[in-house]
Amino acid sequence: MKLTGKIVTFLSVITLIILIPASLLIWNHQRNTLLEQAKVQAETLFKMIVITRQWVAENDKRIDPVPAVATKELSQYASRMADFRFHITSDKLVDPANAPDKFEKKAMQAFKKGRADEYATIIKDDKGEKIYRYMAPLYINKSCLKCHYYQGYEVGDFRGGISVYVPLKNIESAMQSTNFLFYISGFIIYTGIIFAIIVLLNNLILKPLKKLNKAAHSVFNKNYNIKTDIKTNDEIQELSDAFEIMCKRVAKSEENLKNRLKDAVSGYVKLNEELRKKNQELRRTTKFKTDVLDSVAHEVRTPMTKILSYTEILLDPNMKNDEEVLEKAVHVIKRNSKTLNMLFNQVITITKLEHFGYEYQNEQIYFYDFIKDKMESFQEEINLKNLTVKTNILENFIFYADSQALSYVVNNLISNSIKYNKKNGEIEISAEEKDKQVILSFYDTGIGIPAGEIQKITQRFYRVENIKRKYAGSGLGMSIVKRIIDDLNGKLEIKSKEGSFTLVTITLRSGK
Ligand SMILES: Nc1ncnc2c1ncn2[C@@H]1O[C@H](COP(=O)(O)OP(=O)(O)OP(=O)(O)O)[C@@H](O)[C@H]1O
Ligand SMILES: [Mg+2]
Repeated sequence: MKLTGKIVTFLSVITLIILIPASLLIWNHQRNTLLEQAKVQAETLFKMIVITRQWVAENDKRIDPVPAVATKELSQYASRMADFRFHITSDKLVDPANAPDKFEKKAMQAFKKGRADEYATIIKDDKGEKIYRYMAPLYINKSCLKCHYYQGYEVGDFRGGISVYVPLKNIESAMQSTNFLFYISGFIIYTGIIFAIIVLLNNLILKPLKKLNKAAHSVFNKNYNIKTDIKTNDEIQELSDAFEIMCKRVAKSEENLKNRLKDAVSGYVKLNEELRKKNQELRRTTKFKTDVLDSVAHEVRTPMTKILSYTEILLDPNMKNDEEVLEKAVHVIKRNSKTLNMLFNQVITITKLEHFGYEYQNEQIYFYDFIKDKMESFQEEINLKNLTVKTNILENFIFYADSQALSYVVNNLISNSIKYNKKNGEIEISAEEKDKQVILSFYDTGIGIPAGEIQKITQRFYRVENIKRKYAGSGLGMSIVKRIIDDLNGKLEIKSKEGSFTLVTITLRSGK
């Protein structure tokens, strides 16, 4: 049930609770008033008749009829000219027409026994109309004895009474019209009050409540920017203001919560990403370690076996005088030790690059001197193969790079051009600067690389299958070169023709 319905029902119930006893009280009061008025009228009439009778009795010399006759005649006049009537009666009748009726008998008995001074009741006449009947006693006075002494009366004796008929019709209809006015005006006042209460409730409570209700519903749809527009300047406005403030606070705390959730989620995502990276790195490291360990174990075995066997030869007393064997043994041990040394250096280099975040320096490189030094260190191998080395490098050719990393790159490329070259072959090393870029090339007229394998030689431990047995090496060199060139944002290009040549070109930024 809506609030308006509840209020109207409540007011109606309250009104009924008040109206029913109030109406009963008013009805009772009106009934008493009616009887009171009828009684006053009856008493007045009675007194008038008594006064008239007294006047007749005391003026018997001037007036002919005796009081009883005058009373009777006046009664006849009254029934002709007015609504009321009266009747005189006695228990010692002179005129049988004055005989008492039932009501009068009862009244007289009460008077005689001293139980009442007056007697009254309401009866209905033949037409069904209400009549107020009243009777009061008459006592013998001096003037009465003139006529009634023969009946043995003395002054003060009970003689009879006069009963009065007062029709209640007029008094009742006057009261009914008053009642009608009373109820009509009561109804109008009641309706007006109820209407006023409803209008007041509607304006003061229901309308603002509807606005609040609408606002509360829009909060369900997450609209916290509430403006209830309630300006009643009372408790409801206070409630509405508090509601608006509460909505703002809810919006703010939801925003905070969202932000915190966003932070937590992004933190979680970041953490997850870090974990993923770490995991990836761990897997890479593990794979790297396994690969390196497998390859190193494999690569170490041959030179180690050679070193060990030739060491045995050196220690063999029977070989002491065989100069040729001894010399060969020393060379084999030296070459294989060098291979082992290179292998360990490469493993250390790649481990540093891959896992310890190698920091590249920006050093001035005098490339001409740089290559000259390298060539000197490879001189023995160059001589063994009787290679011709050409360099196209200006003496003042300078650029900036990490000398250690560059040294590694150059070492491996020269080493490869020597190792995979033919006897009496050529090596050509060139350097030029073009568009602020340094272009270094290493050319050899060696065995070359099969077309399908050129891209693969930069993979870790990859070696061209058919040369594995003939040439010592781990297959790490080119992978380290690629890694360094990538770290320096450079470019590595390999061109080769099997059995003909290999050209490795490196492009680096020249500036500082
Ligand atoms: N100049 C070249 N001529 C012919 N083949 C080459 C040349 N350079 C590289 N290769 C091929 O590429 C492979 C990989 O070279 P890389 O330098 O990585 O390893 P490696 O020389 O075999 O061993 P190391 O680790 O000692 O350098 C070589 O085994 C070889 O087959
Ligand atoms: Mg190599």
